[in-house]
Amino acid sequence: MSRHLITSALPYINGVKHLGNLVGSMLPADVHARYLRAAGHDVLFICATDEHGTPAELAAREAGLDVAQFCAEQHEVQKDLCQRFQLSFDHFGRTSRPQNHRLTDHFARRLKAEGFTEVRTTEQVYSVADGRFLPDRYVVGTCPNCGYDRARGDQCENCGKQLEPTDLIEPRSAVSGSTDLEIRSSSHVFLLQSRLAERIRAWIDTKEDWPQLTRSIAYKWLDEGLEDRGITRDLDWGIPVDPDDFPEVAGKVWYVWFDAPIGYLGATREWADDRTTPEQAGALFDSWWRTDRGATDVTYTEFMGKDNVPFHTLSFPATILGSGEDWKLVDRLKSFNWLNYYGGKFSTTDHRGVFMSDALELLPADYWRWYLMANAPESDDTSFTWELFGEAINKDLVGTFGNFVNRTVTQVVRHFGEQVPEGGEPGDEEAELAARVEARLTEYVGHLDALEFRKAAAALRALWAEGNVYLENREPWKTVKVDRDRTACTLRTALGLVLVHSVASSPFVPATADRLRDAFPDVVEVPLCLDSGLGAAAAEVLRPGATLVPPPLLFRKLDAEELDAWEQRFGGAESAPTPVPEG
Ligand code: MF3
Ligand code: ZN
Repeated sequence: MSRHLITSALPYINGVKHLGNLVGSMLPADVHARYLRAAGHDVLFICATDEHGTPAELAAREAGLDVAQFCAEQHEVQKDLCQRFQLSFDHFGRTSRPQNHRLTDHFARRLKAEGFTEVRTTEQVYSVADGRFLPDRYVVGTCPNCGYDRARGDQCENCGKQLEPTDLIEPRSAVSGSTDLEIRSSSHVFLLQSRLAERIRAWIDTKEDWPQLTRSIAYKWLDEGLEDRGITRDLDWGIPVDPDDFPEVAGKVWYVWFDAPIGYLGATREWADDRTTPEQAGALFDSWWRTDRGATDVTYTEFMGKDNVPFHTLSFPATILGSGEDWKLVDRLKSFNWLNYYGGKFSTTDHRGVFMSDALELLPADYWRWYLMANAPESDDTSFTWELFGEAINKDLVGTFGNFVNRTVTQVVRHFGEQVPEGGEPGDEEAELAARVEARLTEYVGHLDALEFRKAAAALRALWAEGNVYLENREPWKTVKVDRDRTACTLRTALGLVLVHSVASSPFVPATADRLRDAFPDVVEVPLCLDSGLGAAAAEVLRPGATLVPPPLLFRKLDAEELDAWEQRFGGAESAPTPVPEG
């Protein structure tokens, strides 16, 4: 048994997340957490809503709500959706909680003490009409890189280029649309990342096992020269700077990308505070995050979309390393490409694509979980299409997994009643099946360990298929007329495989796995470990005569008409946005 800390990139508070957000961080993190728990490890899985910054303020304004109230409501909405998607966070916190405020203050103070901060005067966009500075997304204008006319002050959504508000051509206020803008000077705290660059590089050099995608992004930034970064903003909403520590910037707040990753720690502290006494919460928290206080044996794995990689390989490590304290750094980092919607982008602002709330209106979470993970954008961007979705459900879940379980249970109940059949002795075919199951499980677990989700899904699909091959070879529906013992042995073996499937499938389709597990009330409490020995262990615990509660139909087939109707409703091929010329 080993200890694993897992975090998913924190979903931004500005609205319900789409399927692209889900498959890019929270869902794979959950599959990993569920796998490790099923393999018997000690897991702490942490997530939270990322609540500060200009997108939150702008979304609240649009909703006509005070920001704090907007965030409180949206947190509940997202929390509920995450639960319904069966995301098994040990804690789903909020970056706006006091725990995160205290930790953010702490890191800022440490960075200052270690000489890694400096207050500098900067030129900021000021809106005369709005009577305020316009940081980040408060300014919109034309992208100097690609000409897109709705680029935001922090980044162009079209070409992905990181921007400063002052880079925009024909800038205007996102608050009032006013173009009466001036450049005024304003003091800000800078994190001296340039002084930490060599330490960060040395640390990344040790990460030889990181995927190429991750390392190349990090080295690209390091090679271009890591720049010092302004980590405060002229905003009201955010974690206020402590005026005792930084009197020159009193009244300002920390930049959202400074406090958000600290939110991983903040949310862990919330978890600790919730579950133990104030005296013990600090030690519990430290045992996961401080390598000088018990966290040396923790493996820390982060999940995120590729746009988040620089923040997790450079900026957040700069905060951690610069603190001069022994905080845990990420060990394994899994990043994802984009899931597109018919070749265009999913877009929260344009409400393009399928959102978590829409998805659950149509079908239970397991359908989506399976499709998304089996087609996860690991090596490349991928596209969601209703055809592919229908195929994954009808072929894999209905035709392979569901079909095997259904045929097995139907035959058992019809010929032997609601119990595990007695009689017969396993022979060569059962031994061969056992060997194949073990090989499939070895492959499956290997891919799960390597965070290779598509390959893991393919191995799981192959494991499901073994059951159908076995049934077709043994033909219990025929043999039952002539050889009852042989049939009993076949169906008992097949039920053992159903039990294997329930444990093995639990990371991907947890609700279905639970329903299968409930079919065996006599073994429901027996811990079965998700490893290569699972097949043998399941056969062992499944005693002849044990009760079988027939599970309800696992999955239903999706027909072409309803898929078409959904494509109409959500917009398919014809809704792809007109591409904006690049470069
Ligand atoms: N909210 C950010 C996004 O949606 C992710 C924040 S990850 C964290 O891209 F580490 F900063 F929390
Ligand atoms: Zn651009």
